[in-house]
Amino acid sequence: MRPTYREPYRPQVHYTPARNWMNDPNGLVWHDGEYHLFYQYNPEGAGWGNMSWGHAVSPDLLHWEELGTAIPATADEQVFSGSIVVDEHDTAGFGKAAAVAVYTAWYPKSGLQAQALAYSTDRGRTWTRYAGNPVLDIGSTEFRDPKVFWYAEGGYWIMVVALAEERKIALYRSGDLKAWRRLSEFGPAGATGGVWEVPDLFELPVEGGGSKWVMVVSLNPGGPAGGSGVQYFAGDFDGITFTPDDTSTAWADHGRDFYAAVSWNGAPDGRRYWIGWMGNWDDAASIRTHPWRGAMTLPRELSLVADGDRVRLAQRPVAALGGLRTGTPVSLGDREVSGTTALPGPAHDGAFEITAEFEPGTARRFGLQAGDVVFGYDARAGELFAERGPREAAAGWHGGPAPVEGGGVRFTAYLDASSVELFGDGGRTVVTDLVFPAGQGLAVFAEGGTALLRSLVVQPLGSIWEPLSP
Ligand code: FRU
Repeated sequence: MRPTYREPYRPQVHYTPARNWMNDPNGLVWHDGEYHLFYQYNPEGAGWGNMSWGHAVSPDLLHWEELGTAIPATADEQVFSGSIVVDEHDTAGFGKAAAVAVYTAWYPKSGLQAQALAYSTDRGRTWTRYAGNPVLDIGSTEFRDPKVFWYAEGGYWIMVVALAEERKIALYRSGDLKAWRRLSEFGPAGATGGVWEVPDLFELPVEGGGSKWVMVVSLNPGGPAGGSGVQYFAGDFDGITFTPDDTSTAWADHGRDFYAAVSWNGAPDGRRYWIGWMGNWDDAASIRTHPWRGAMTLPRELSLVADGDRVRLAQRPVAALGGLRTGTPVSLGDREVSGTTALPGPAHDGAFEITAEFEPGTARRFGLQAGDVVFGYDARAGELFAERGPREAAAGWHGGPAPVEGGGVRFTAYLDASSVELFGDGGRTVVTDLVFPAGQGLAVFAEGGTALLRSLVVQPLGSIWEPLSP
């Protein structure tokens, strides 16, 4: 039976599995006209365990069809995070343009973690483990999450993989995906308050000219809002060594629930999209959703923007999201806000795109209220923020910097049934939090004074679970 995707707190514009546990995105690849999303999945229940790769495909990174378990756990091996490449020239001997998954095999009996292969020659529908597994074993219990990509300039495969406890990323090269040679290491650098996991490395154009390489490192704990978080380093890569421009900490997202973000290999037009697990190891096990537990963030397109002598990552939700706009938006303009003012309009239990511009005035903070959840701008901190309702274990607010420009502060927020993502400062600041609003309805608010609302558009979004019109 097709699930309804209408349970309480079921996201309407974010991917969730119909049932059971999900964490990291894995094996993100564009292949034969489809975007693939694999993920850490427990086929047996809604808690972490029996780690396997679940699988979904999409034409547009938003509308997903869940295909079931792709690479199942066995009694001897659980299938931890990793990536997929399309082996155009059959370097591995699995077939021309075979999809090859490079994942971490975790052997529960020994506790060891090693890198292993599985391949598919039927558009990712069925998978065969390579008989020669593992392909990269250093006898470590903390060696995981390989991201592999084709390094065209050198004509070889690169793998970045975490030496988790050492807070290092190791770089390897291979000609055939089977024999790997260590090239270099990166780290420790930036934030080191937890283990390093789930690395990514890619080249990205800088808006206005040139390009940089970006090293992405998830760490847990030690994130910006406590628990899990994702940091990045912009720099150069010469085919052997990644050299960061600087090693100060830069967060990809300032909220509590953005982790293990990785990018799609082979996206059309050289675009770079990524997605994160909208969760945090701190409280992931007790998230109040049923019969699934775990959601992905919105897929975001990445770019780099120069900021003084630094280069910063900017994120925008994928453009296709605009196609979900539906119904009549509520628009308000030019009014003073103090206290709480309910917004007119039909009640809608789905998702919203909220575009706001405020002049701070005397208010301490201001923004939107959805039930007992608030998000917006904290004028004292100078930060976009989201605050979870008081019922949540990790209650409190989480924010990231956004400047007041031309007297105003602007943000776009995506509010779904159990999450909010705020994008500000031209996409350079993002705040992603799971929230579980109690109570209905949306309101604008200002606390501790008045703020001037220059403009507000609350745009309902249709559900990604409604079939796409042909
Ligand atoms: C990150 C992580 C990875 C590991 C996977 C196990 O969230 O801990 O390091 O491969 O999850 O599910």
